[in-house]
Amino acid sequence: MTVTITPLAENAGAEVTGLDLRDDVDAEIAKRLNDAFVDRVALVFRDQTLTPRDFVKGASIFGTPMKQLLAQYHLPDCPEVGIVSNRDRDTKGDGKILIRGTTWHTDHSNTEVPPKATSLYAIDLPDSGGDTAFTNTCAAYDALPNATKKRIDGLQAVHAYLSSRTPRKLPKRTKEEEAASPDMIQPLVRTHPDSGRKALYLNPVRIEEFVGVEKEEGFSLLGELMAHATEDRFIYRHKWRRGDMVIWDNRCSMHQANKDYDMSQLRLMHRLMLEGTKPA
Ligand code: OGA
Ligand code: MN
Repeated sequence: MTVTITPLAENAGAEVTGLDLRDDVDAEIAKRLNDAFVDRVALVFRDQTLTPRDFVKGASIFGTPMKQLLAQYHLPDCPEVGIVSNRDRDTKGDGKILIRGTTWHTDHSNTEVPPKATSLYAIDLPDSGGDTAFTNTCAAYDALPNATKKRIDGLQAVHAYLSSRTPRKLPKRTKEEEAASPDMIQPLVRTHPDSGRKALYLNPVRIEEFVGVEKEEGFSLLGELMAHATEDRFIYRHKWRRGDMVIWDNRCSMHQANKDYDMSQLRLMHRLMLEGTKPA
């Protein structure tokens, strides 16, 4: 079968057909897939049948799978694969159900070397809703007025695990986990290591302030950039089907889960991440 890659929206998303992720891919197909991954920021593979090990192997086309950071959500026999579901609880916090990923973010931006990619594989889904949206932050950067680019190029942001103005909760961590993750300074505008394009590196859940910018002014800048970067024209909104594997590039996108569905129905994903490089 031939592999085809079809864009799904103007600035983000592409569907790959003709590929079973359990099969080996040759160098030419791997290159096409990697180029599309960077260009489209999120790739969708339909109708896959993947054990956790198959999932790890398939994602390896795009890089090196790493251990999931939140140990409480690992699969016991496959530490690269974790679970994201609407039954997950904040086990180290109040023990209540915590739907993760429900506001715009990029994954683990408070770590020194955030994952290059994250991937979800849909196991169980609600009858409707529960989409994941992706926005292309290279396209968003390109579309900024020159004056704004000038103002923000070179700015640095302080990323905490959880910022004081976060729009949502994150799972609580142990004292040891907290101590092992100091705040991290990241560029607000990063250069994509593969494409050379500049991207906004935004995350309202984590960004506490910008270095050398008064706090209130920083929050209003963040608000302005977020409003711009999440305009419809930059977004692909993925409607999940069982068996979908979606992989996205954290270096040039943000994503958001939607908790707009019937919570009595199970939404269960397998999740993995690929090793990244230090944002620059
Ligand atoms: C994630 C995430 C979104 C979703 O796994 O990092 O944000 O739709 N998930 O579950
Ligand atoms: Mn996420």
